[in-house]
Amino acid sequence: MVTETVRANRRLCLLDELPPCIGPKLRAFPNRRPKIQWLQQLERSPGSELGSQGYVFRVKIDSRIYALKVFKFFKPSDAKYLLSPVRAKKVSDEIAAFHVDPFYAECRAYGRIQKQEEAKGLKSRIAANCYGFLCLQKKHELQLAEMGIDLWDLPEEDEYRQQAEGSPIRAILKEYIEEETEFNSQNCKEMLKKLRRLNRWGVVHRDIQAGNYKNGLLIDLGSAWTEPHCIMKAVPKDVADGWRQTDMSQFDEMLKEKGIGKDMHILPNLEYHKKLRSWKP
Ligand SMILES: Nc1ncnc2c1ncn2[C@@H]1O[C@H](COP(=O)(O)OP(=O)(O)O)[C@@H](O)[C@H]1O
Ligand SMILES: [Mg+2]
Repeated sequence: MVTETVRANRRLCLLDELPPCIGPKLRAFPNRRPKIQWLQQLERSPGSELGSQGYVFRVKIDSRIYALKVFKFFKPSDAKYLLSPVRAKKVSDEIAAFHVDPFYAECRAYGRIQKQEEAKGLKSRIAANCYGFLCLQKKHELQLAEMGIDLWDLPEEDEYRQQAEGSPIRAILKEYIEEETEFNSQNCKEMLKKLRRLNRWGVVHRDIQAGNYKNGLLIDLGSAWTEPHCIMKAVPKDVADGWRQTDMSQFDEMLKEKGIGKDMHILPNLEYHKKLRSWKP
């Protein structure tokens, strides 16, 4: 039996852009039923101790190489974990999921980046190129299952899982980047400049760490919060402003780990922003 949740998720996959809510959106990969050659499952970096959001593969589609991130299923009510019960009641599960589910979080962040880079005619990029979202076909589901890929973190008896099991698998196609990032002060200055730009565009990355960069470009936007964002709107302004500083602290932390950046003045700038009451992303 196909549940209403599965039907709704199938309808979402047919849209030209996602997510269907106010704010930026990502377009579908033009070929909706591509033949995928699975070449290699990519290792997660050792530094990422948080649970993974999915699995990333090097794939070939129409003789081109890509990185394909296949996302785990996400329980909408989990999107509000940072809110008190009173505040959580004011935000719908659907909007919260569109803003927090790592799949939609990447769609929105990439949507914003693509619009801004295009509008400003910028040549230097912040993130790996993105070619759109893709909902996988049944045969791909079987291929993933054969590889032992499990996209459910929830127990089988979970109520949401029972309603949503059988929903299409969501994925995002990106440029595959082979080269590692060289963390020297020149490159890091450039990365910091781009990260500040991303923040000005209303995207807080929230997971700045060496493992989410390749060749100086961000490859993982699954934790990003892109404004307008229901969770940031649901909390007092000073709390949201604090969250908006996350990337600068994390960048600073990353440089400390790499033993560089003493001359980069990341945090004084952060203090300055904090004092600027009128600061808007
Ligand atoms: N575009 C890409 N090019 C090359 N490798 C990638 C790319 N995207 C992801 N990877 C590899 O896959 C790993 C996991 O990807 P990521 O998007 O960070 O997912 P998560 O952190 O949720 O597991 C990365 O640490 C990196 O090694
Ligand atoms: Mg990552």
